[in-house]
Amino acid sequence: MNKQEKIVTMFDEIASTYDVANRVLSFGVDKSWRKDACDKTYAYYNQKSIDLILDVACGTGDMCEYWDKRAKKLEMTIDKIIGADPSVGMLEKAKEKNLNAEFVVAEAKSLPFETDSVDILSISYGLRNVMDRSEGLGEFYRVLKPGGLLVILEFTKLQKASIASRVRDFYMKKILPIVGGFLSKNKEAYSYLPNSIEGFLTKEKLISELEEIGFEMKEAKGYSMDISTLFIAQK
Ligand SMILES: C[S@@+](CC[C@H](N)C(=O)[O-])C[C@H]1O[C@@H](n2cnc3c(N)ncnc32)[C@H](O)[C@@H]1O
Repeated sequence: MNKQEKIVTMFDEIASTYDVANRVLSFGVDKSWRKDACDKTYAYYNQKSIDLILDVACGTGDMCEYWDKRAKKLEMTIDKIIGADPSVGMLEKAKEKNLNAEFVVAEAKSLPFETDSVDILSISYGLRNVMDRSEGLGEFYRVLKPGGLLVILEFTKLQKASIASRVRDFYMKKILPIVGGFLSKNKEAYSYLPNSIEGFLTKEKLISELEEIGFEMKEAKGYSMDISTLFIAQK
């Protein structure tokens, strides 16, 4: 099994406890990050009617739910919301929620969508799991319509050792593996999270990768002392 297959298998294994663990471990703060990401994106896109929103690495469907909820609140019409993820276990959980969305089994680097067909493509806390990141980002660029928006929420590697980064590191390295490991009965999976952030990019590096592909940056905003970062980029 290669590294990518191991990651997907790990998500299959923790799928049944993923939502509970997520709510406990994030103290629910991710809700405001997700909501703000949707609202900012809708403001940039500035269209009352949208054909297709694709959420890649959708997991149990959180972002699909937020795209739908926020659109309703803003009296917008979305023709279709689709969640894509290679983990069948995570998708099964998403389907149980009866969301206003469809789901497909797919990896970031190979999306079963036509070129220039997606209005908004999001990936929340999923990009660091994509081993072939440049292929994945290239695929996002391909499927987006010209003018379409890419929306990334991610825990980026913090450059300087600020107080926030020390607190985040302590929480993620010491507390999260114990609490997440207890709730999911899979300590290994919850030790993977801090390690995957350490091995991931800084905000500046991700911006330069997006620009290299051809995206134009619209927003790069840190939440809660840069614990989480929102990137919005346009094709
Ligand atoms: C931390 S979860 C995030 C789930 C969801 N987006 C959320 O915000 O709760 C990461 C997800 O990335 C998926 N994933 C792993 N490798 C992937 C890949 N190569 N392409 C797309 N998704 C992938 C996993 O199956 C998992 O569902």
